[in-house]
Amino acid sequence: MATAIYYFSATGNSYTTARLIADGLGDCALKPVASTFKKPYITEEAERVGFVFPVYYGNMPYSVREMISKMTFSKDDYIFIFTTWRGHAGAVAQRMDQLLRTRGQKLSLSLGIPMPGNSFINEPHVDAEHLANQAKNVASLLEDIRNRRAEDYFTADILPSTPIDIPHNFRGITADENCVGCGGCTHVCPRDNIHIENGRAVIGDNCASCLACFHWCPAEAIYMSRQENIARRSKYHHPDVTFSDIAWQKKE
Ligand SMILES: Cc1cc2nc3c(=O)[nH]c(=O)nc-3n(C[C@H](O)[C@H](O)[C@H](O)COP(=O)(O)O)c2cc1C
Ligand code: SF4
Ligand code: SF4
Repeated sequence: MATAIYYFSATGNSYTTARLIADGLGDCALKPVASTFKKPYITEEAERVGFVFPVYYGNMPYSVREMISKMTFSKDDYIFIFTTWRGHAGAVAQRMDQLLRTRGQKLSLSLGIPMPGNSFINEPHVDAEHLANQAKNVASLLEDIRNRRAEDYFTADILPSTPIDIPHNFRGITADENCVGCGGCTHVCPRDNIHIENGRAVIGDNCASCLACFHWCPAEAIYMSRQENIARRSKYHHPDVTFSDIAWQKKE
């Protein structure tokens, strides 16, 4: 296998993007980040390694950071990131380069595409356009990976902290009285941060703020007490992705 692609996805934008990249490149192994949650270390021997994930606050999801902190790579790896985001990827490339350097590597290339927002909200026509252009946008960037195009992302600057640097429930994610205790959220949570107590979901502090629980709850029982502007936003998931696709990520 020439390329290993690790992907993290709460609502399917990054999962479907990872699938498009794998189909386009060929000879790829798709590996869910959530499946590595309990692994003490990960050795990756592919000659080309990609990380596909959503941008959170111009940064990478904590689960991606945590996984890479446990990884060992081959010496001459070509490492790329392919991010999905609603409006802007911020300094995610510089942050990833800094992280990879702690593993004796560096980031070769940062690519990304706009997709519907699953946190703050885009205008509906903007989301529709991003969805319609997804396959075309991915295809237009694959040549860069095939050609092993590289850029320098090194910065010695200390980048500003973000709310997701460490796992915690900073949004006050809670299950309300609509919760029927079905356990669906426990299956899509990539960090095993939810358990059912007395028939209701209880959310802990090992939270990556991915919002999978919020978007996939069939009873719309999850709300965010500390994010009034999105507390009751409408639910979103990529039209080609199912609950099972998301839950399966940690079973792999
Ligand atoms: C906690 C959080 C923070 C986010 N921060 C950003 C951001 O800084 N910039 C941006 O353009 N989109 C941001 N988004 C939107 C997601 O990056 C975007 O919707 C992504 O495609 C979702 O991917 P997924 O469906 O694979 O989970 C954020 C989403 C969440 C949940
Ligand atoms: S998915 Fe929703 S209804 Fe089911 S246990 Fe979780 S919060 Fe409750
Ligand atoms: S509790 Fe919800 S938002 Fe936090 S990591 Fe789990 S699924 Fe994601």
